[in-house]
Amino acid sequence: MHTGKSPQAFEKVCVVGLGYIGLPTAAFIASKGVHVTGVDVNSKFVESINKGEVPFFEPGFDVLLKRVVEEGYLVAQTEQIEADAYIVCVPTPFKENHKVDTKFINAAVKAMAPHLRPGALVVLESTSPPGTTENMANYILELRPDLSLDEDDENAIFVAHCPERVLPGQIMEEMENNDRVIGGLTPRGTQLGVDLYGTFCTAELLQTNATTAEMAKLTENSFRDVNIAFANELSLISDRLGIDVWELIDLANHHPRVNILQPGPGVGGHCIAVDPWFIVSSVPEESKIIKTAREVNDGKPEWVMSKVTKALKGLDAPVVAALGIAFKNDIDDLRESPSLNIVKRLGEENPELDVRVVEPNVDELPDSLSAIANVKKQDLQGAVAEADLILLLVNHKEFLALDPSVLDDKTVIDTKGIWR
Ligand SMILES: NC(=O)c1ccc[n+]([C@@H]2O[C@H](COP(=O)([O-])OP(=O)(O)OC[C@H]3O[C@@H](n4cnc5c(N)ncnc54)[C@H](O)[C@@H]3O)[C@@H](O)[C@H]2O)c1
Repeated sequence: MHTGKSPQAFEKVCVVGLGYIGLPTAAFIASKGVHVTGVDVNSKFVESINKGEVPFFEPGFDVLLKRVVEEGYLVAQTEQIEADAYIVCVPTPFKENHKVDTKFINAAVKAMAPHLRPGALVVLESTSPPGTTENMANYILELRPDLSLDEDDENAIFVAHCPERVLPGQIMEEMENNDRVIGGLTPRGTQLGVDLYGTFCTAELLQTNATTAEMAKLTENSFRDVNIAFANELSLISDRLGIDVWELIDLANHHPRVNILQPGPGVGGHCIAVDPWFIVSSVPEESKIIKTAREVNDGKPEWVMSKVTKALKGLDAPVVAALGIAFKNDIDDLRESPSLNIVKRLGEENPELDVRVVEPNVDELPDSLSAIANVKKQDLQGAVAEADLILLLVNHKEFLALDPSVLDDKTVIDTKGIWR
């Protein structure tokens, strides 16, 4: 069925993994009148999606989901089906050695394999190290030796990689309007990928091969990581030299071709703190700067800890107000958060400390903190009033709005430079 040069019309698409990325992707395709079956191993997700309820928070997405479910274009289930095209959108975490753990991809493909028929397109959308799409294709052929990757074979299937680069919180805007990089294992795989994403994406669909597409996503996040590491390294150097790093960066950025990012307590989140390792673990000898950047950023929480320890010396039964545990400002996402890590260590390693956590974006502390007896959640005004030491970890808008005069008699460690 996938022959000829005009754009392929996909009648039935299967999106595997209905998380933060897979579900909006499925809904956007469904909104164009394509029948989409969303598959997830989490039956609670499936249940809530079929009621038109979004299982996570994303502004504006609830209206779209409700509509496509009510119109019958999107159906969720736990079993895979036969489809014209599959999009695999399952997690790709890393293991202890920073190598990718492909167990979710493998499980998804194993369940998909019996349903695949010649002519089908399989797109891997999960962020993946170079070579993962090809390995996935080879695994499909292991499971289905009757299929082929040779475009001229009548039993050919087509395989491509199309990474996702939306910003959480802006999915309604970015899913349609961000340019996409699409790389097939074969030219027809690329073309079919373009046809599939062209059903809902109005931006540029950039064609390449699968390995370059994999690297494109990893490169984008490594670029951010390396540049943040530069700022973080400057903060360590400036501290030694007794100068203000934020003033330094501000001055340097007046150069017309210099644009240094801002330092902080480390780098968090599930992308920038993770993806560079996929390059390093694939090509360790050549990835020197990328690896060092990861180490500089991962080392920053330790540096913050040493500053706090020094500041607390001589204080009897001190109270510490830790402002912010999210991985960046004005969100509730705590994944890989260096601030959360710092607060956890602070509480665990100093049982005599009274740690008050202020995080306006979460209702309750995560289990990793609520399990620590000397760590409690408190409101901003109360925590600041009662604390001896204010440890600013995230530049949330509530902290930016704080009248700095309330800090006058306090010891302050400001990792984001908002009160300088
Ligand atoms: N969240 C983001 O902002 C973002 C941005 C760009 C790329 N990515 C990448 O996209 C991929 C998915 O990320 P996410 O944030 O949507 O993850 P997620 O954890 O929100 O969702 C993944 C979903 O896959 C399901 N799943 C796991 N194994 C499965 C299987 N065998 N069959 C069917 N479903 C299965 C899970 O139950 C879960 O609902 C990852 O590779 C991630 O790195 C995420």
